[in-house]
Amino acid sequence: MKVRHGFIWTALVVSFAVLATGCTRPLPFKPVATVRQLMESTVHPAAEVIFESVGTIKTIEGTEEIAPGNDEDWAEVRRNAVTLAEAGNLLLIGDRPKDREKWYANARALTDAALLAVRAVDAKNPEQLFDAGGQVYEVCQRCHELYWDDATREKGR
Ligand code: HEC
Repeated sequence: MKVRHGFIWTALVVSFAVLATGCTRPLPFKPVATVRQLMESTVHPAAEVIFESVGTIKTIEGTEEIAPGNDEDWAEVRRNAVTLAEAGNLLLIGDRPKDREKWYANARALTDAALLAVRAVDAKNPEQLFDAGGQVYEVCQRCHELYWDDATREKGR
């Protein structure tokens, strides 16, 4: 009986040890870009496609409404909205987060706003897409006000 108990305890201790190291082991991500490079290569171009897909252009001749005109246009916006939504996750890996509260919240807000754009595309609704673009833009602004200070700007130029 004693031997059996000893065996069970050893087994328990070993499994806890495995669990504990499993929890502290870093996830197997391999971050490649800095935050700035991620902005340049992924976040900014993807957002631009959304921003430029809908809107109103006013000229002397009159007002022109812009919206995706065919399935391929909508699909293009969708691809970029999905990319932008996932870019919110990329902002959370490695040493990209500057803190765990506001940075996390802003990265998540980027994903959520981009998902609104995905839904607008699925509904083929230009007004909804316009609003989603507005929300995306607000998240960009909010995060930049917090983290893109003059010092970082200088360093990057
Ligand atoms: C989670 C925070 C966060 C969000 C959300 C965010 N950015 Fe940024 N962005 C930054 C930071 C921090 C920098 C400055 C990086 C540096 O210079 O090291 C930056 C820099 C940039 C730059 C300058 C890159 C360069 O070449 O110097 C662009 C362009 C940019 N962001 C676009 C966007 C757009 C567009 C959005 C929204 C779709 C967005 N960002 C959302 C944090 C964010």
